[in-house]
Amino acid sequence: MLPEITHVSRDEQQQLVLLRAAGGHEQPAMQFPEIWLRDNCQCKSCYLPQTRSRLPHGWHTKVQVRELSWCVDTQRLHIDWSDEHQSSFELSWLQARDFAPANRKRYLSDCYRPEPRHWSRQQYPQIQREFVYEELLQSDEALLQWLQQLAVYGLAMIRQAPLELNVLQTLCQRVGFMRRTTYGHEWHVSAQPGASNYAYLAQPLPLHTDMPYFEYKPSITLLHTLQQSDSPGGWNLLTDAFHVADLLRAEHPKAFQMLSETPVDWADIGSEKGLSFHNIWRAPVINLDVHGRYLRINHSVPQRDSHFSIPAEQVRPWYEAMALFVRLANEQACTFKTTPGDILTFDNLRLVHGRTGYDDTDRNVRHIVGAFLDWDIAYSRWRVLKQSLGYNN
Ligand code: OGA
Ligand code: ZN
Ligand code: ZN
Repeated sequence: MLPEITHVSRDEQQQLVLLRAAGGHEQPAMQFPEIWLRDNCQCKSCYLPQTRSRLPHGWHTKVQVRELSWCVDTQRLHIDWSDEHQSSFELSWLQARDFAPANRKRYLSDCYRPEPRHWSRQQYPQIQREFVYEELLQSDEALLQWLQQLAVYGLAMIRQAPLELNVLQTLCQRVGFMRRTTYGHEWHVSAQPGASNYAYLAQPLPLHTDMPYFEYKPSITLLHTLQQSDSPGGWNLLTDAFHVADLLRAEHPKAFQMLSETPVDWADIGSEKGLSFHNIWRAPVINLDVHGRYLRINHSVPQRDSHFSIPAEQVRPWYEAMALFVRLANEQACTFKTTPGDILTFDNLRLVHGRTGYDDTDRNVRHIVGAFLDWDIAYSRWRVLKQSLGYNN
Protein backbone atom coordinates (compact mmCIF):
# COMPACT_ATOMS: atom_id res chain seq x y z
CA MET A 1 0.00 0.00 0.00
CA LEU A 2 1.28 3.43 -0.92
CA PRO A 3 1.39 6.07 1.81
CA GLU A 4 -0.36 9.42 1.39
CA ILE A 5 2.38 12.04 1.16
CA THR A 6 1.52 15.16 3.12
CA HIS A 7 4.79 16.99 3.36
CA VAL A 8 7.83 17.37 1.12
CA SER A 9 10.87 19.21 2.40
CA ARG A 10 14.63 19.55 2.20
CA ASP A 11 17.25 19.06 4.85
CA GLU A 12 19.62 21.65 3.43
CA GLN A 13 22.53 20.78 5.64
CA GLN A 14 22.52 17.08 4.76
CA GLN A 15 21.24 17.76 1.23
CA LEU A 16 18.36 15.32 1.61
CA VAL A 17 14.84 15.38 0.24
CA LEU A 18 12.36 14.25 2.92
CA LEU A 19 8.87 12.88 2.25
CA ARG A 20 6.42 12.58 5.14
CA ALA A 21 3.28 10.49 5.06
CA ALA A 22 -0.10 11.09 6.65
CA GLY A 23 -0.30 10.01 10.26
CA GLY A 24 3.05 11.40 10.29
CA HIS A 25 5.51 12.52 12.77
CA GLU A 26 5.81 9.27 14.70
CA GLN A 27 6.74 7.66 11.34
CA PRO A 28 10.26 8.52 10.18
CA ALA A 29 10.37 10.50 6.94
CA MET A 30 11.54 8.84 3.74
CA GLN A 31 15.03 10.10 2.94
CA PHE A 32 16.65 10.66 -0.44
CA PRO A 33 20.09 12.25 -0.93
CA GLU A 34 19.80 14.96 -3.58
CA ILE A 35 22.90 13.87 -5.49
CA TRP A 36 21.46 10.36 -5.67
CA LEU A 37 18.13 11.66 -7.01
CA ARG A 38 19.97 13.57 -9.74
CA ASP A 39 22.03 10.48 -10.59
CA ASN A 40 18.89 8.35 -10.79
CA CYS A 41 16.75 10.74 -12.81
CA GLN A 42 14.23 8.62 -14.74
CA CYS A 43 13.84 10.94 -17.74
CA LYS A 44 14.53 9.78 -21.30
CA SER A 45 17.97 11.37 -21.46
CA CYS A 46 19.09 9.84 -18.12
CA TYR A 47 17.46 6.40 -18.11
CA LEU A 48 16.74 3.66 -20.65
CA PRO A 49 13.65 1.66 -19.58
CA GLN A 50 14.26 -1.24 -21.99
CA THR A 51 17.56 -2.12 -20.25
CA ARG A 52 16.43 -0.83 -16.85
CA SER A 53 19.65 1.07 -16.65
CA ARG A 54 21.15 4.49 -16.19
CA LEU A 55 22.56 6.12 -19.31
CA PRO A 56 26.16 7.33 -19.15
CA HIS A 57 26.28 10.87 -17.79
CA GLY A 58 28.37 13.17 -15.56
CA TRP A 59 28.62 13.13 -11.77
CA HIS A 60 26.61 16.33 -11.03
CA THR A 61 28.47 17.05 -7.81
CA LYS A 62 27.77 20.79 -8.16
CA VAL A 63 24.09 20.45 -9.11
CA GLN A 64 21.52 21.56 -6.53
CA VAL A 65 17.79 21.38 -6.04
CA ARG A 66 16.18 24.66 -7.14
CA GLU A 67 12.58 23.73 -6.55
CA LEU A 68 10.79 20.78 -5.10
CA SER A 69 7.10 19.91 -5.48
CA TRP A 70 4.72 17.05 -4.87
CA CYS A 71 1.91 16.42 -7.37
CA VAL A 72 -1.06 14.87 -5.60
CA ASP A 73 -2.80 13.89 -8.86
CA THR A 74 0.08 11.92 -10.33
CA GLN A 75 1.65 10.98 -6.98
CA ARG A 76 5.03 12.13 -8.23
CA LEU A 77 7.90 14.16 -6.86
CA HIS A 78 9.08 16.91 -9.22
CA ILE A 79 12.49 18.51 -8.99
CA ASP A 80 13.90 21.51 -10.85
CA TRP A 81 17.68 21.36 -10.74
CA SER A 82 20.16 24.24 -10.83
CA ASP A 83 21.48 22.98 -14.23
CA GLU A 84 18.00 23.49 -15.82
CA HIS A 85 17.34 19.74 -15.78
CA GLN A 86 13.99 18.45 -14.50
CA SER A 87 13.22 15.14 -12.86
CA SER A 88 10.06 13.39 -11.78
CA PHE A 89 9.83 10.29 -9.57
CA GLU A 90 6.96 7.88 -8.90
CA LEU A 91 5.99 7.30 -5.28
CA SER A 92 6.27 3.50 -5.43
CA TRP A 93 9.75 3.78 -6.97
CA LEU A 94 10.82 6.17 -4.23
CA GLN A 95 9.29 4.11 -1.44
CA ALA A 96 11.20 0.98 -2.53
CA ARG A 97 14.46 2.96 -2.44
CA ASP A 98 13.95 4.97 0.76
CA PHE A 99 17.29 5.41 2.59
CA ALA A 100 15.68 5.32 6.07
CA PRO A 101 17.24 2.45 8.10
CA ALA A 102 14.10 0.27 8.31
CA ASN A 103 13.65 0.27 4.54
CA ARG A 104 17.28 -0.51 3.83
CA LYS A 105 17.01 -3.45 6.23
CA ARG A 106 13.79 -4.64 4.55
CA TYR A 107 15.41 -4.42 1.12
CA LEU A 108 18.47 -6.40 2.18
CA SER A 109 16.51 -9.33 3.63
CA ASP A 110 13.57 -9.33 1.17
CA CYS A 111 15.39 -8.60 -2.08
CA TYR A 112 19.12 -9.05 -1.64
CA ARG A 113 19.49 -12.21 0.41
CA PRO A 114 17.54 -13.63 3.33
CA GLU A 115 19.18 -13.27 6.72
CA PRO A 116 21.03 -16.52 7.58
CA ARG A 117 20.17 -18.15 10.90
CA HIS A 118 22.95 -20.17 12.44
CA TRP A 119 22.07 -23.43 14.20
CA SER A 120 23.54 -25.83 16.70
CA ARG A 121 23.29 -29.61 16.79
CA GLN A 122 20.43 -29.28 19.32
CA GLN A 123 18.51 -26.98 16.97
CA TYR A 124 18.79 -29.31 13.97
CA PRO A 125 15.38 -31.01 14.55
CA GLN A 126 13.67 -27.59 14.44
CA ILE A 127 15.48 -26.21 11.40
CA GLN A 128 15.49 -29.31 9.18
CA ARG A 129 12.97 -29.37 6.32
CA GLU A 130 12.03 -31.90 3.67
CA PHE A 131 10.83 -31.30 0.13
CA VAL A 132 9.39 -33.69 -2.45
CA TYR A 133 11.35 -33.89 -5.71
CA GLU A 134 8.34 -33.88 -8.03
CA GLU A 135 6.82 -30.90 -6.21
CA LEU A 136 10.00 -28.92 -6.78
CA LEU A 137 9.65 -29.59 -10.50
CA GLN A 138 5.93 -28.76 -10.61
CA SER A 139 5.49 -25.95 -8.12
CA ASP A 140 7.25 -22.58 -8.12
CA GLU A 141 6.14 -22.06 -4.53
CA ALA A 142 7.88 -25.30 -3.46
CA LEU A 143 11.00 -24.33 -5.43
CA LEU A 144 11.07 -20.95 -3.69
CA GLN A 145 10.65 -22.55 -0.24
CA TRP A 146 13.55 -24.94 -0.91
CA LEU A 147 15.85 -22.08 -1.99
CA GLN A 148 14.73 -20.03 1.01
CA GLN A 149 15.51 -22.91 3.39
CA LEU A 150 18.97 -23.32 1.79
CA ALA A 151 19.65 -19.60 2.07
CA VAL A 152 18.55 -19.27 5.69
CA TYR A 153 19.74 -22.57 7.20
CA GLY A 154 22.12 -23.88 4.53
CA LEU A 155 20.56 -27.36 4.59
CA ALA A 156 17.52 -29.03 2.98
CA MET A 157 16.54 -32.63 2.23
CA ILE A 158 14.68 -33.61 -0.92
CA ARG A 159 12.83 -36.94 -0.90
CA GLN A 160 11.33 -39.31 -3.48
CA ALA A 161 13.58 -38.52 -6.42
CA PRO A 162 13.71 -41.21 -9.10
CA LEU A 163 16.71 -43.53 -9.03
CA GLU A 164 17.94 -42.20 -12.35
CA LEU A 165 21.15 -40.57 -13.44
CA ASN A 166 19.63 -37.37 -14.87
CA VAL A 167 17.85 -36.27 -11.68
CA LEU A 168 20.37 -33.64 -10.61
CA GLN A 169 20.49 -32.20 -14.16
CA THR A 170 16.71 -31.79 -14.11
CA LEU A 171 16.70 -30.21 -10.66
CA CYS A 172 19.55 -27.82 -11.47
CA GLN A 173 17.79 -26.79 -14.67
CA ARG A 174 14.77 -25.77 -12.55
CA VAL A 175 17.10 -23.35 -10.77
CA GLY A 176 19.22 -22.31 -13.76
CA PHE A 177 22.20 -24.48 -14.56
CA MET A 178 24.65 -26.82 -12.92
CA ARG A 179 28.18 -25.74 -11.98
CA ARG A 180 30.86 -27.63 -13.82
CA THR A 181 34.20 -28.37 -12.14
CA THR A 182 37.43 -30.23 -12.82
CA TYR A 183 35.49 -33.43 -12.18
CA GLY A 184 32.82 -32.67 -14.77
CA HIS A 185 29.16 -31.89 -14.19
CA GLU A 186 28.03 -34.81 -12.03
CA TRP A 187 30.48 -36.88 -10.03
CA HIS A 188 29.95 -40.36 -8.67
CA VAL A 189 30.87 -41.28 -5.12
CA SER A 190 31.43 -45.01 -4.90
CA ALA A 191 34.23 -47.01 -3.43
CA GLN A 192 37.01 -47.57 -5.91
CA PRO A 193 40.11 -49.23 -4.48
CA GLY A 194 43.13 -47.17 -5.57
CA ALA A 195 40.98 -44.10 -6.35
CA SER A 196 42.75 -40.83 -7.16
CA ASN A 197 40.40 -38.79 -4.92
CA TYR A 198 40.12 -39.47 -1.20
CA ALA A 199 36.31 -39.25 -1.26
CA TYR A 200 36.18 -42.28 -3.55
CA LEU A 201 37.40 -44.64 -0.88
CA ALA A 202 35.08 -46.46 1.57
CA GLN A 203 36.96 -44.99 4.55
CA PRO A 204 35.31 -42.44 6.83
CA LEU A 205 35.27 -39.00 5.21
CA PRO A 206 35.93 -36.45 7.94
CA LEU A 207 34.07 -33.12 8.01
CA HIS A 208 35.04 -30.93 5.07
CA THR A 209 33.81 -28.41 2.53
CA ASP A 210 33.99 -29.49 -1.10
CA MET A 211 36.69 -27.97 -3.31
CA PRO A 212 38.21 -25.30 -1.03
CA TYR A 213 41.03 -25.05 -3.60
CA PHE A 214 38.88 -22.90 -5.93
CA GLU A 215 38.63 -19.13 -5.62
CA TYR A 216 35.13 -19.58 -7.03
CA LYS A 217 34.26 -22.54 -4.87
CA PRO A 218 31.07 -24.34 -5.97
CA SER A 219 28.56 -23.05 -3.48
CA ILE A 220 25.67 -25.51 -3.18
CA THR A 221 26.35 -29.26 -3.03
CA LEU A 222 23.68 -31.77 -4.08
CA LEU A 223 24.12 -35.45 -3.16
CA HIS A 224 21.64 -37.89 -4.71
CA THR A 225 21.58 -41.33 -3.10
CA LEU A 226 21.09 -44.04 -5.73
CA GLN A 227 22.19 -46.88 -3.52
CA GLN A 228 22.90 -46.71 0.20
CA SER A 229 25.18 -49.04 2.11
CA ASP A 230 23.53 -51.94 3.98
CA SER A 231 26.55 -51.94 6.29
CA PRO A 232 26.26 -49.96 9.54
CA GLY A 233 28.26 -47.10 7.95
CA GLY A 234 27.59 -44.51 5.26
CA TRP A 235 25.95 -42.00 7.64
CA ASN A 236 26.08 -38.29 6.86
CA LEU A 237 27.50 -35.74 9.28
CA LEU A 238 26.65 -32.07 8.82
CA THR A 239 27.59 -29.01 10.87
CA ASP A 240 26.73 -25.36 10.49
CA ALA A 241 30.31 -24.08 10.56
CA PHE A 242 29.01 -20.49 10.91
CA HIS A 243 27.67 -21.60 14.30
CA VAL A 244 31.07 -23.12 15.13
CA ALA A 245 32.65 -19.79 14.18
CA ASP A 246 30.14 -18.02 16.48
CA LEU A 247 31.22 -20.30 19.35
CA LEU A 248 34.90 -19.64 18.68
CA ARG A 249 34.34 -15.91 18.37
CA ALA A 250 32.50 -15.78 21.73
CA GLU A 251 34.57 -18.23 23.75
CA HIS A 252 37.98 -18.51 22.05
CA PRO A 253 38.65 -15.12 20.42
CA LYS A 254 42.36 -15.84 19.87
CA ALA A 255 41.59 -19.05 17.97
CA PHE A 256 38.91 -17.20 16.01
CA GLN A 257 41.38 -14.52 15.02
CA MET A 258 43.98 -17.11 14.04
CA LEU A 259 41.53 -19.00 11.81
CA SER A 260 40.08 -15.89 10.23
CA GLU A 261 43.40 -14.19 9.52
CA THR A 262 45.84 -16.99 8.64
CA PRO A 263 45.86 -17.85 4.94
CA VAL A 264 45.98 -21.58 4.24
CA ASP A 265 47.02 -23.17 0.96
CA TRP A 266 44.27 -25.45 -0.39
CA ALA A 267 45.23 -27.61 -3.35
CA ASP A 268 44.12 -30.35 -5.72
CA ILE A 269 46.63 -31.74 -8.15
CA GLY A 270 45.97 -34.56 -10.58
CA SER A 271 44.29 -35.39 -13.82
CA GLU A 272 40.78 -36.33 -14.81
CA LYS A 273 39.80 -37.78 -18.18
CA GLY A 274 43.19 -36.88 -19.63
CA LEU A 275 43.13 -33.25 -18.42
CA SER A 276 45.89 -32.39 -15.94
CA PHE A 277 45.07 -29.81 -13.30
CA HIS A 278 46.84 -27.93 -10.53
CA ASN A 279 44.36 -25.95 -8.45
CA ILE A 280 45.45 -23.76 -5.53
CA TRP A 281 43.53 -21.21 -3.51
CA ARG A 282 45.04 -19.45 -0.54
CA ALA A 283 42.55 -18.28 2.08
CA PRO A 284 41.73 -18.66 5.78
CA VAL A 285 39.41 -21.30 7.22
CA ILE A 286 36.94 -18.61 8.34
CA ASN A 287 36.55 -15.87 5.71
CA LEU A 288 35.04 -12.57 6.82
CA ASP A 289 33.78 -9.54 4.99
CA VAL A 290 34.71 -5.99 6.03
CA HIS A 291 31.85 -5.97 8.55
CA GLY A 292 33.07 -9.20 10.20
CA ARG A 293 30.24 -11.30 8.72
CA TYR A 294 30.97 -14.79 7.46
CA LEU A 295 31.60 -15.17 3.76
CA ARG A 296 32.86 -18.71 3.54
CA ILE A 297 34.40 -21.62 5.42
CA ASN A 298 37.28 -23.64 3.97
CA HIS A 299 38.20 -27.00 5.43
CA SER A 300 39.37 -30.30 4.02
CA VAL A 301 42.17 -32.36 5.50
CA PRO A 302 43.21 -34.13 2.27
CA GLN A 303 43.00 -30.91 0.26
CA ARG A 304 45.03 -28.77 2.62
CA ASP A 305 48.39 -28.42 0.91
CA SER A 306 51.70 -29.30 2.58
CA HIS A 307 52.85 -25.91 1.30
CA PHE A 308 51.88 -23.51 4.09
CA SER A 309 53.09 -20.10 3.05
CA ILE A 310 53.08 -18.28 6.39
CA PRO A 311 55.94 -17.41 8.81
CA ALA A 312 57.17 -20.54 10.65
CA GLU A 313 56.35 -19.23 14.13
CA GLN A 314 52.67 -18.82 13.22
CA VAL A 315 52.26 -22.47 12.27
CA ARG A 316 51.84 -24.15 15.68
CA PRO A 317 49.25 -21.61 16.99
CA TRP A 318 47.26 -22.19 13.79
CA TYR A 319 47.25 -25.97 14.35
CA GLU A 320 46.07 -25.48 17.92
CA ALA A 321 43.22 -23.22 16.80
CA MET A 322 42.32 -25.66 14.03
CA ALA A 323 42.20 -28.61 16.44
CA LEU A 324 39.66 -26.64 18.48
CA PHE A 325 37.59 -25.78 15.37
CA VAL A 326 37.47 -29.44 14.33
CA ARG A 327 36.57 -30.63 17.86
CA LEU A 328 33.68 -28.15 18.03
CA ALA A 329 32.58 -28.98 14.46
CA ASN A 330 32.41 -32.69 15.37
CA GLU A 331 30.52 -31.93 18.59
CA GLN A 332 28.00 -29.84 16.66
CA ALA A 333 27.39 -32.34 13.83
CA CYS A 334 23.90 -33.64 13.14
CA THR A 335 23.81 -37.17 11.75
CA PHE A 336 21.44 -39.19 9.59
CA LYS A 337 21.60 -41.84 6.90
CA THR A 338 20.01 -41.07 3.55
CA THR A 339 17.95 -43.66 1.68
CA PRO A 340 17.75 -44.18 -2.10
CA GLY A 341 15.83 -41.32 -3.73
CA ASP A 342 17.05 -38.72 -1.24
CA ILE A 343 18.86 -35.60 -2.45
CA LEU A 344 20.78 -33.95 0.33
CA THR A 345 21.39 -30.27 -0.50
CA PHE A 346 23.53 -27.85 1.49
CA ASP A 347 25.48 -24.61 1.36
CA ASN A 348 29.08 -25.56 0.66
CA LEU A 349 30.33 -22.11 1.66
CA ARG A 350 28.88 -22.58 5.14
CA LEU A 351 28.35 -26.19 6.24
CA VAL A 352 31.00 -28.81 6.71
CA HIS A 353 29.93 -32.34 5.87
CA GLY A 354 31.32 -35.85 6.07
CA ARG A 355 30.30 -39.49 6.19
CA THR A 356 31.16 -42.51 8.24
CA GLY A 357 33.07 -45.41 6.65
CA TYR A 358 31.16 -48.32 5.16
CA ASP A 359 31.62 -51.71 3.53
CA ASP A 360 30.35 -52.70 0.10
CA THR A 361 29.43 -56.26 -0.81
CA ASP A 362 28.95 -57.90 -4.21
CA ARG A 363 25.22 -57.18 -4.03
CA ASN A 364 25.32 -53.82 -2.24
CA VAL A 365 27.51 -51.07 -3.70
CA ARG A 366 26.93 -47.61 -2.18
CA HIS A 367 26.44 -45.05 -4.97
CA ILE A 368 25.93 -41.30 -4.51
CA VAL A 369 25.75 -38.85 -7.42
CA GLY A 370 27.03 -35.37 -6.61
CA ALA A 371 26.64 -32.04 -8.40
CA PHE A 372 26.89 -28.33 -7.65
CA LEU A 373 24.91 -25.17 -8.08
CA ASP A 374 26.24 -21.67 -7.56
CA TRP A 375 24.65 -19.14 -5.23
CA ASP A 376 24.56 -16.43 -7.91
CA ILE A 377 22.24 -18.63 -9.96
CA ALA A 378 20.22 -19.83 -6.96
CA TYR A 379 19.68 -16.33 -5.53
CA SER A 380 18.71 -15.09 -8.96
CA ARG A 381 15.99 -17.77 -9.19
CA TRP A 382 14.92 -16.96 -5.59
CA ARG A 383 14.41 -13.28 -6.55
CA VAL A 384 12.62 -14.07 -9.81
CA LEU A 385 10.28 -16.46 -7.98
CA LYS A 386 9.60 -13.98 -5.17
CA GLN A 387 8.66 -11.38 -7.76
CA SER A 388 6.52 -13.66 -9.89
CA LEU A 389 4.73 -15.19 -6.87
CA GLY A 390 3.91 -11.71 -5.58
CA TYR A 391 6.08 -11.64 -2.43
CA ASN A 392 7.95 -8.46 -3.33
CA ASN A 393 5.18 -6.18 -4.46
C1 OGA B 1 32.20 -36.16 -1.07
C2 OGA B 1 31.22 -36.41 -0.01
C3 OGA B 1 29.49 -37.74 0.94
C4 OGA B 1 29.03 -39.15 0.98
O1 OGA B 1 32.37 -37.05 -1.91
O2 OGA B 1 32.83 -35.07 -1.07
O3 OGA B 1 31.06 -35.56 0.83
O4 OGA B 1 27.97 -39.37 1.59
N1 OGA B 1 30.53 -37.55 -0.01
O5 OGA B 1 29.70 -40.02 0.44
ZN1 ZN C 1 17.03 13.27 -16.47
ZN1 ZN D 1 32.05 -33.67 0.18
